[in-house]
Amino acid sequence: MPRILVVNGSPHVYASSGWSVVEFLLAQIHVLWPTAEAVHRLLSAPEMILPSAAYATAVQDRAADDSPAFELSEILIGELESCDLLIIATPIHNFTVPAALKAWIDYVLRINRTFDATPTGKIGRLNDRPVFVVVTSGGFHQGERASQADFLSDYLRCALQTVGLKSIQFVYLQGMAYGEGAASLAINAGIERIRSLLPALLQQQERSRTGV
Ligand SMILES: Cc1cc2nc3c(=O)[nH]c(=O)nc-3n(C[C@H](O)[C@H](O)[C@H](O)COP(=O)(O)O)c2cc1C
Repeated sequence: MPRILVVNGSPHVYASSGWSVVEFLLAQIHVLWPTAEAVHRLLSAPEMILPSAAYATAVQDRAADDSPAFELSEILIGELESCDLLIIATPIHNFTVPAALKAWIDYVLRINRTFDATPTGKIGRLNDRPVFVVVTSGGFHQGERASQADFLSDYLRCALQTVGLKSIQFVYLQGMAYGEGAASLAINAGIERIRSLLPALLQQQERSRTGV
């Protein structure tokens, strides 16, 4: 059964301003994969503690994968390894990813586990798979109305590529703080963007199913 991992970085969880777009994306994926199962990782849940000193030491000392300090990291990496498609739903917080998503990144990008450090750069160990990043923001950071820096997109792309995830598509829901009209325009634009991405996703699924 295909698995979809939904990593939800919003403190508002399912009341996120962009959740209806994530639901639309999930519904479309279910049309392509009727048997798909979605696993939701809520990054604001209490178990999502920040990386501890024990974790940092274990990373630095290259502790064994079964070290107790890696317990949460192993769970999160396992979720990522076993998914066929990843959705990251995240707001922009102060120009970049929220702290909870940064913590997730610190747990899943692990040297000698999800990537190797070589003299020519970091090489991911995971197989590529489709990744959709649905980004909500109060203001504008892309396009004609951009009025602030975007340190989220390139950073998140780089982090995901480090572990081997390269087929990444961003869906931006901008101007969510500009009132209901602006938010509904952003949501409609996000839905249109998803519609435009679906044919490529279908082709990618066909290629991986048939191997050609
Ligand atoms: C701590 C914090 C920092 C924020 N920083 C930014 C920012 O840098 N740029 C921006 O456009 N919006 C910023 N916002 C607004 C959120 O991105 C916006 O409200 C978004 O719609 C929240 O999405 P969510 O409902 O999915 O959490 C910030 C919000 C919070 C709470």
